[in-house]
Amino acid sequence: MVKAMPIALRLCASNGRMQIMMALLGVLVIILVGYSRLSNSLDTRMQYSVNNDNILQNELKQLHKRIQILEDGKKTYPEVDFLNYKDRKRILVTGGAGFVGSHLVDKLMLQGHEVTVVDNFFTGRKRNVEHWIGHENFELLHHDIVNPLFIEVDQIYHLASPASPPFYMYNPIKTIKTNSIGTINMLGLARRVRARVLLASTSEVYGDPEIHPQHEEYWGHVNPIGPRACYDEGKRVAETMCYAYQKQEGVEVRVARIFNTFGPRMHMNDGRVVSNFILQCLQNEPITIYGEGKQTRSFQYVSDLVDGLVALMNGNFSLPVNIGNPDEHTIIEFAQIIKKLIGSDSEIVNKPAMTDDPQKRKPDISRAKKYINWQPKVDMLLGINKTIEYFRNELHRSKHSERNLHPPEYVHRVAHP
Ligand SMILES: NC(=O)c1ccc[n+]([C@@H]2O[C@H](COP(=O)([O-])OP(=O)(O)OC[C@H]3O[C@@H](n4cnc5c(N)ncnc54)[C@H](O)[C@@H]3O)[C@@H](O)[C@H]2O)c1
Repeated sequence: MVKAMPIALRLCASNGRMQIMMALLGVLVIILVGYSRLSNSLDTRMQYSVNNDNILQNELKQLHKRIQILEDGKKTYPEVDFLNYKDRKRILVTGGAGFVGSHLVDKLMLQGHEVTVVDNFFTGRKRNVEHWIGHENFELLHHDIVNPLFIEVDQIYHLASPASPPFYMYNPIKTIKTNSIGTINMLGLARRVRARVLLASTSEVYGDPEIHPQHEEYWGHVNPIGPRACYDEGKRVAETMCYAYQKQEGVEVRVARIFNTFGPRMHMNDGRVVSNFILQCLQNEPITIYGEGKQTRSFQYVSDLVDGLVALMNGNFSLPVNIGNPDEHTIIEFAQIIKKLIGSDSEIVNKPAMTDDPQKRKPDISRAKKYINWQPKVDMLLGINKTIEYFRNELHRSKHSERNLHPPEYVHRVAHP
C-alpha cells in the first residue's frame, strides 16, 4: 500500500500533464482554424474591394464620357444683338409657334428683345421655335388665348388664329372664339399694362372683292353665313374691337391686313395653295386645282411680311395697312411655275370650285409705302425655291433633332447651327 502510493501519485501527475497538453493542443487547433478563417476572409475582402474599385473606376469613366458628350452637344443659340434696358422691349407674340409667328420671333430675338410666345399648338409646333428654348430672352407659354393672360409686356403681336381654310373650318366655333374672345383678352391685357397691340388681320376681310386691287378703304364683300365666315367675320370683328379699345380706352393699335404668304415652316397639312402644289409636285401626285384655276392670288415671301409687321408696329400709323406682294398670278400659272421649278411629272387635275372662293386678290400697297416705308423685296421665284427646299427636307427628315433654321435671313449670325 505504502509502495503503491508514489506510483499512483506519479500516474496522477502524468495524467494532469496529459490533460494540460491536450488542452493546449485544443487551444492551438482553435487558434489555427481561426487564423486560417480570418486570413481567408481578409483575402476575400481585399478581393472584393479590388473588384469594387474596378467597378467604380468603370462607372467614373462612363460618367466622364457622358459629361464629355453633354459638353460637346451643349445647346447654342443664334447670336442676338444686345439692347440696353431703354431700347429692349418685352414683346408678346400670340401664335408665335406658327408659321408667320416663328419667323417674327426670330427677327425680334435677333434684334435683342425679350420675347414671350403664347401658343396652344393647334397648328403651331414647338419645333418652329426650338432653337430659342432656354435662351435668357425667350419664354414659351402653352396657353389658349381664349383664357385671360396676365403678364407684363410693352408690345403685343397678336397672331393667334388658325389661318388656312381646312384648319379654321375644322372647328368654326373655336375660330370665332379665338378671334373674338381671344382678341378681347389681348386688348384687355394691352389696356392694363399700357402695351401697343398689332392685330394680324387678313385680306379675307375684303371677302370676294368687287374692286381690284384692294385698298384699305374698301369695306369688303363677305358672306356672313358661308363656310369661311368664321374666319372672315372673326377677323372683321377683331378689327372692330381694336378700334373700339383705341377710341374708348386709349389703347394704341396697329392692324395689318395680311395677303397670302408662303415660306419655310408652313404646316405640311396646311392645305393652302403653295404648300399643296409643292408637296404634290415633290411626290409626283396630281396637282389639284379647285375650279378652273383662273382665280388670282398675290403671294409674298414670309420675311417681307415680318419686316412689314415690325415696321407697322413701330411706326405712327394706326389705320389698317395692307401687307402683301402685288405680283399677281392665276392659280394655274402658280401650278405651272412650281411644277417647272421642281421638274415634276404631276398632272394638273381640276376639282369643283370651293364655296365663296375669292376670284381676285391683289393688294394696293400705297399706304404701306407711304406711311411705314415698306414694300416687298424678295423675288417670288427665290422664295418659292427656298420653300421647295424646306418641304423637300421635311419629307426626308428622319430625326427630331434637326434644327428648323432658315438661312440666309440670318445665316451669318448663327454661331453653331
Ligand atoms: N399665312 C398667311 O398667308 C396669312 C394671311 C392672312 C392673315 N394671316 C394671319 O396671320 C396669323 C398667323 O398665320 P400663320 O399662317 O402663321 O398661321 P399658323 O396656323 O401657322 O399660326 C397660327 C398660330 O396660332 C396658334 N393658335 C391658334 N389658336 C390659338 C389659341 N386659341 N390660343 C393660342 N394660340 C392659338 C396656332 O397654334 C399657331 O401656332 C393668323 O392670325 C392669320 O390669320 C396669315
